[in-house]
Amino acid sequence: MALLTGKVAIVTGAARGIGRAVALRYAEEGADVAFVVQKADERAVALENEIKALGVRTKSYVANVADFEAVKLLVEQVKSDFSRIDILVNNAGITKDGLMLRMTESQWDDVINVNLKSAFNFVHAVAPIMLSQRAGSIINMASVVGVHGNAGQANYSASKAGMIALAKSVAQEFGARGVRANAIAPGFIETDMTAKLPDAVREEWCRSIPLRRGGTTSDVASVALFLASDMAAYVTGQVIQVDGGMAM
Ligand code: NAI
Repeated sequence: MALLTGKVAIVTGAARGIGRAVALRYAEEGADVAFVVQKADERAVALENEIKALGVRTKSYVANVADFEAVKLLVEQVKSDFSRIDILVNNAGITKDGLMLRMTESQWDDVINVNLKSAFNFVHAVAPIMLSQRAGSIINMASVVGVHGNAGQANYSASKAGMIALAKSVAQEFGARGVRANAIAPGFIETDMTAKLPDAVREEWCRSIPLRRGGTTSDVASVALFLASDMAAYVTGQVIQVDGGMAM
């Protein structure tokens, strides 16, 4: 039997990159997938069609994940459409890099709101449903820089460290009621987000990675599948680095 048969997953930031790969992997393993996009465009339609072709139910939901009220309404809608929610992947994220002394207030606020507050918004809305089901898996897409920090990314690193601490805290609060929470900390993954980096930076990163390559969205989706599935039934409050050994 597939690993996620009968489960319902919410995946944010699913229009492209890691979120898209996770949504598809979950569908391949039998989950119904409610995925969240920033705007209703052809990418959302394409993903909906690809997931439907895998024989599971799916629907796209448009929201700014940083908006508390919008997320509350969205989660109510998912519950009414799919009857339950078993898996939440807080994946939507942005970067607005800059050295600390030059970082503006809006660079800080935007990154904290989209990356970290969004995770609070979704956990807050989904938790009562998972707790009453006495089952659920929450996965925060953090980053290795949330563990180790990174010059030029104080806002992003802080947001990812916050996502890790959020997962550990709710793992402690919800564990007794069967709800698990973990974080994934990807290293350098080849997506649109990292395509923005200059070639020299990308090459230097790859040279410093023990496995000598950037990661793929599939590398991350595999770990997201494990954490969502009952194979990880005794795993909670953990941070799993998916980074080719980049940061040990
Ligand atoms: P991406 O930029 O390709 O995708 C991010 C998604 O988030 C996009 O679909 C975007 O529309 C969505 N999003 C952004 N702001 C939003 C908002 N306000 N409301 C709703 N949706 C919003 O990024 P990628 O590379 O797929 O990354 C996914 C996650 O993994 C992010 O949280 C990122 O920080 C994290 N990550 C990525 C790494 C990488 O090397 N690519 C490394 C470590 C972590």
